[in-house]
Amino acid sequence: MTDIDTSYARHLQMLQRQLEEVLPSLGYDGLLLFSGSPRYRFQDDQAAPFVANPHFKRWVPLPRQVDCALLVRPHQRPLLYHYDPVDFWHLPAGRPEGFWTRHFDIVEMHSREELERSLPHGGHLAFIGEEAALAERLGIEAVNPTPVLSALNWQRAVKSGYELECLREANRVAVAGHRAAEAAFRGGESEFGIHQAYLAATGARETELPYSSIVGLNTHAAVLHYQHLDRQPPARPLSFLLDAGVEVRGYASDITRTYSGESGLFGELIDALDAAQRNLLEQVRPGQGFTSLHLSMHRALARILRDFGLVDMSEEGQLESGITSTFFPHGLGHLLGLQVHDVGGLQADPAGTPAPPPLSHPFLRLTRSLETDMVVTVEPGLYFIEPLLARLAEAPHRGAVDWAKVDALRPYGGIRIEDNVRVTPAGCENFTRDAFQAG
Ligand code: GLY
Ligand code: MN
Ligand code: MN
Repeated sequence: MTDIDTSYARHLQMLQRQLEEVLPSLGYDGLLLFSGSPRYRFQDDQAAPFVANPHFKRWVPLPRQVDCALLVRPHQRPLLYHYDPVDFWHLPAGRPEGFWTRHFDIVEMHSREELERSLPHGGHLAFIGEEAALAERLGIEAVNPTPVLSALNWQRAVKSGYELECLREANRVAVAGHRAAEAAFRGGESEFGIHQAYLAATGARETELPYSSIVGLNTHAAVLHYQHLDRQPPARPLSFLLDAGVEVRGYASDITRTYSGESGLFGELIDALDAAQRNLLEQVRPGQGFTSLHLSMHRALARILRDFGLVDMSEEGQLESGITSTFFPHGLGHLLGLQVHDVGGLQADPAGTPAPPPLSHPFLRLTRSLETDMVVTVEPGLYFIEPLLARLAEAPHRGAVDWAKVDALRPYGGIRIEDNVRVTPAGCENFTRDAFQAG
């Protein structure tokens, strides 16, 4: 058997064990996980790009397969209802093949009618998926019960060896794309040209990406989720921020790098943020609270802002007045896996007790303590965002800011450095930096 066979077999054993731990106490005999159905545009026969329900694709590496259902029950082999309709418009899926199929009983469904007839009806099952109307037709009352989702989302923060390997690979492939993108930037390409270089190097088509890549030149680097691709390069390419990942068997990477087009203050700020991020990673270990890591990063950022003469105020003063949040308005990171922003980061326990972020840091998506084999992003930023700077310019402490320096940096947009890291018993494994070093 190959490594992937072995690691996937162990992954399934883990899922099966977790199911046995959780389901009986919640009063269900099994879960019916539905991959999902295509969504069509209004009055149209064109569907949006499809991504399967994360709970389905955690078991079955078919991240783009519509209308499949998986029945999982404690102490029983999983049963996959594989949808493969008779269709001469599209290429039929065909019977699934690969390292994972021997662990499943697989029944082929050739039409939606056959599928609905064949799926289990009633019983003490919980239906997990978007199609509540289907569950109703099946007589399954429990649709996405919160206690089940809370337990599953809690569990999936900690990855199996198989999942870790998928995420490692997703970093290797994406890093090849990041290298090609940097070369395209250095070669004077537009955002659109850089994006094409990324796709070519990763071998991904756009609909296979885990999220729309953020490809920002100059001031576009200050737009946190910049969504366009300019076809023309700017007259003077000052800076380039790329936030882009790929998917491997349904698992996402989420990587950001920022480059300066010329030497000077902005390049020095990139180096300072990079050093601060690496320094912060030394604090990643089991038991470390992510909120306190986030606040440590704000302190480190306050030091950078003071050292570079951008803000003349103590670190604590900058935190208390919210100045660091002007320059770093988003969270330090999030859980990463089957979703780019894996859910379950704001729970205090498997029962789903909410663990919201501090009021002054509302965009933090992860407040849990780190555990071995969690995978998280660590993505500090330092941006010159016009609406936030405008607010700061009206604030009582506006006099602490060197506005001439800020004005000189506005055309560069901003910086984000985002790595994907696995928590290990002694610290962390940095999938992203390992991939950059290997190349
Ligand atoms: N790519 C979105 C994020 O970094 O969270
Ligand atoms: Mn991220
Ligand atoms: Mn990102």
